[in-house]
Amino acid sequence: MSYKVSFVNPAKNYNMIKREIDTAYFEVMSKGDLIDRGQLMSFEKNLASFVGTKYAVGLNSGYDALNISLRAAGIGAGDEVIVPAHTFVATCSAVVNVGAKPVLVDVGIDFNIDVDKIEESITDRTRAIIPVHLSGYMADMPKVLEIAKKYNLTVIEDACQSLGSSINGKGAGSLGLTGCWSFYPFKILGGYGDGGAITTNDPDVALFATRMRYNGEDRETGEYRGHGFTCLLDNLQAAFLDVKLRYLPVWIKRRKDIAERYREALSDIADLLLPHYNRDGFDHVYQNYTVRSKQGNEFSEYLKKNGIEVLTQFRKPYYKHEALKLEDRGFPQTEALSREVCSLPMNAEISDDEVGYVIKAVHSFYSEDN
Ligand SMILES: Cc1ncc(COP(=O)(O)O)c(C=O)c1O
Repeated sequence: MSYKVSFVNPAKNYNMIKREIDTAYFEVMSKGDLIDRGQLMSFEKNLASFVGTKYAVGLNSGYDALNISLRAAGIGAGDEVIVPAHTFVATCSAVVNVGAKPVLVDVGIDFNIDVDKIEESITDRTRAIIPVHLSGYMADMPKVLEIAKKYNLTVIEDACQSLGSSINGKGAGSLGLTGCWSFYPFKILGGYGDGGAITTNDPDVALFATRMRYNGEDRETGEYRGHGFTCLLDNLQAAFLDVKLRYLPVWIKRRKDIAERYREALSDIADLLLPHYNRDGFDHVYQNYTVRSKQGNEFSEYLKKNGIEVLTQFRKPYYKHEALKLEDRGFPQTEALSREVCSLPMNAEISDDEVGYVIKAVHSFYSEDN
């Protein structure tokens, strides 16, 4: 189905930076620099500097970043890892796939892990917490780090949705053992295929990830240092991401301007909860502009019918998918917000007129006696 306002518009975004992307493409292709070359190193250096860490290691996906982070922390069978009940399933699957047990914790009003519910979920098997910074807004990291210190737990930040956000100037992905990044095309920094990275200040973790992404091989000596994976960020994607990273501050500013427009126009609708939390020092970069509508599907379907592409992630919480065999201990906030979430179009390429169209449609839904 084609929409009047699409959720994201990758072709338009490409056209905004076509000259530089094309130059990057020809540079890589004409030299045949496809794997583990200068463009990857350049992107890693720039990403680390953007996030505020010493190292960044380019990987295949956000999932791989989580998987390798857990392994770097030595987490495996018999261990428990705390994860939010409301997140993309990969956060939890990475824990299961290293053989550990995910222990789910409900989220708060900001969609992030409810830090007041973490301690009651800690047992003598708990080894790590994975706070997820959802939609561009960071979890309460000062509190997470305090709890982690008290119980001697590793913190792995799932920052896949929050590149550029921060708390008191400290960047997402710079506070835990690792920050895990996804460059899936529709992320705030999206490639033209899958991609991911780890950021870290720990040289051993960076070295471990550098080897694990290449089947465990020490590239200098050829020695295999462990059973690894094939999950290297390819050079072409790194070259594209490096171009896009330069635009990110401007694109984040654009996102914040759009969020402000949504806020001004929609905050008077009683049945609609907007994602503005105004916590001191917390900077929201609006990877997603997720509202909560009391009218749930009726609201999201109305927008779609009126030509607006919206996302309703996640109507069915991941722990309710039977095949995943996860323990549902009852997560009232997650259940409530799952019925209501609706992400409005939010991206760097959307026009002012398109934002206006979305606002008008939301108003018309609420003026139609719903
Ligand atoms: C919160 C979160 N965690 C993990 C991932 C996994 O990233 P990827 O799709 O690159 O494996 C994503 C991306 O979709 C995500 O949004």
